[in-house]
Amino acid sequence: MCGIVGYIGKQVAIPILVDGLKKLEYRGYDSAGVAVLDCEKIVVSKSVGKLVALEEELGQAYSQSCIGIGHTRWATHGRPSQVNAHPHCDCKQDFVVVHNGIIENYLELKDMLIEKGHKFASETDTEVLAHLLEDYYEGDFEGAVRKVLKTIRGSYAMVVLRRLDPNKLVAARKDSPMVVGLGDGEFFVASDITAILNYTRKVYILDDGEMVVITEDGVKVSDFEGNSRTKEVYDVKWDAVAAEKGGYEHFMLKEIHEQPKALKDTMLGRLEEDKVILQEVDLTLEELAQINKVYIVACGTAWHAGLVGKTLIERWAHLPVEVDIASEFRYRSPLVDKHTLVVVVSQSGETADTLAALREAKNRGARVVAVTNVVGSTVSREAHDVIFTWAGPEIAVASTKAYTTQLEGMVLLGLYLAQVKGTLPTEKIGEIITALKRIPAQVQELLDQAGLIEELAKSFAKVENTFFIGRSLDWAVAMEGSLKLKEISYIHAEAYAAGELKHGTLALITENTPVIALATQRDVYEKTISNVKEVKARDAKVIGLTYAGNTSMAKSVDHVIYIPETMDELSPILTVIPLQLLSYYVSVARGCDVDKPRNLAKSVTVE
Ligand code: M6R
Repeated sequence: MCGIVGYIGKQVAIPILVDGLKKLEYRGYDSAGVAVLDCEKIVVSKSVGKLVALEEELGQAYSQSCIGIGHTRWATHGRPSQVNAHPHCDCKQDFVVVHNGIIENYLELKDMLIEKGHKFASETDTEVLAHLLEDYYEGDFEGAVRKVLKTIRGSYAMVVLRRLDPNKLVAARKDSPMVVGLGDGEFFVASDITAILNYTRKVYILDDGEMVVITEDGVKVSDFEGNSRTKEVYDVKWDAVAAEKGGYEHFMLKEIHEQPKALKDTMLGRLEEDKVILQEVDLTLEELAQINKVYIVACGTAWHAGLVGKTLIERWAHLPVEVDIASEFRYRSPLVDKHTLVVVVSQSGETADTLAALREAKNRGARVVAVTNVVGSTVSREAHDVIFTWAGPEIAVASTKAYTTQLEGMVLLGLYLAQVKGTLPTEKIGEIITALKRIPAQVQELLDQAGLIEELAKSFAKVENTFFIGRSLDWAVAMEGSLKLKEISYIHAEAYAAGELKHGTLALITENTPVIALATQRDVYEKTISNVKEVKARDAKVIGLTYAGNTSMAKSVDHVIYIPETMDELSPILTVIPLQLLSYYVSVARGCDVDKPRNLAKSVTVE
């Protein structure tokens, strides 16, 4: 879950490495470092904290070397510290390594190396790689790297420099993303395309088990055995400025405001008047007839999208659905076989647990459909079918446009399954499609009321505990609302099925515990209002969310936010918008780091 970048060419490397690391900071940001080759010497600079600290450390008089590697870290093995920050060297400072992932057998390797006299400086698993290279080197740089790759177990993307090979970068990947950027007489390597987009749009996306040797003359890709591999050049179409803040104070606010477009893009070319076209999903009626169960597997926000997907698929396609947290899925021998459709949801397409669940499901014979936002991601390449969400790069750690487009992906999948199975009349599909097409404009309507939410957020600045309640689909959205508030404002927030409060949680409600009550689902509206009354009777201040035109909620709560009129099943895409805005403005009011909340990283590529 860290960020890696490497450069070889004719320009001074350090500014390019630092620029790349800035784009990768969302992958982890507790420390950072760079290493360059200068006059047959490896020069390493590191610092704890965000990249500004590294920039200060480097100052103006940095090395003018044209080859180097860099890293931004999110600690796994060893606490965040200067000594644990990457890059890491061997005893003789002959090799220097940056690494993303985990070397599972590092302790036994470390013991073996210490026995042989190697001296370790850090607590990291990564340092083992540098010492192994030192130990294995017998006059052949690539050969030593290959031997290391055969010795280690785990997940990694790594880049290595050797002091006496001043024109070469060697990189490899297994279970961790990595791309190679192809410039004009210069080359880049990075864990994410965003890091190198300022310099090139032509990239190789490395596959698991590939190693790459980069010199000024070109790029050679091979497998770990040394058999050469031919790669296709992937031409990146999206714009570098799309990944910048575009005038907003924070990426999160920009991404919240991008939702109408993201939602429109995601439905583009997929909706006819009363038919859904999902070209990327190729399930025939015969194949679907064999499916008797659906599993939706994901983490965090993506899991919350899956909870909504469950109701939609069960309601529309009449298939039983289980929703599982990816880190739990494969450790309880799930009842998955060739009659199961497994849907994995992942914005990044690189989340380690989701990927592991995908592989487990495939091993058990299941058909796997991925819903992901990143073309070329590992999830997108390993699933049988892929529904891409077209949200564009999401940089803020807190997911917003990824979530609403994932919800849209669930709507599309639910409708598609119902359509193939014939469980919904064509007119009903047409009605849902008409309502879905109105959603982007309705999201905009809610965004236009951001000022009101900003006002409301002020009363949350000093709050320490809060509850989100709702029933049915509202409960699923409540979970996402509470996660948003927790992760960026550090307020303790819990989501409860509204009917469950009186079984224990009601004891926590006081006048100092504001409650956010979601009541957009018409079939359970009256029941939800009874639960709202229970918390009001305990003096809680209540903010209610309900559908436009419903005048009754105002009588039971302190403040009402109206959600534009739509079908109950589509309401989650709208209901979450005020909750995202509330979290954002509360976070700002509390002076928190909105885009990079403490202890978190955007892409979780370790289990
Ligand atoms: O990239 P993924 O969708 O697989 O990420 C899964 C979670 O880590 C992610 O949804 C996380 O919960 C959100 N960023 C929180 O806002």
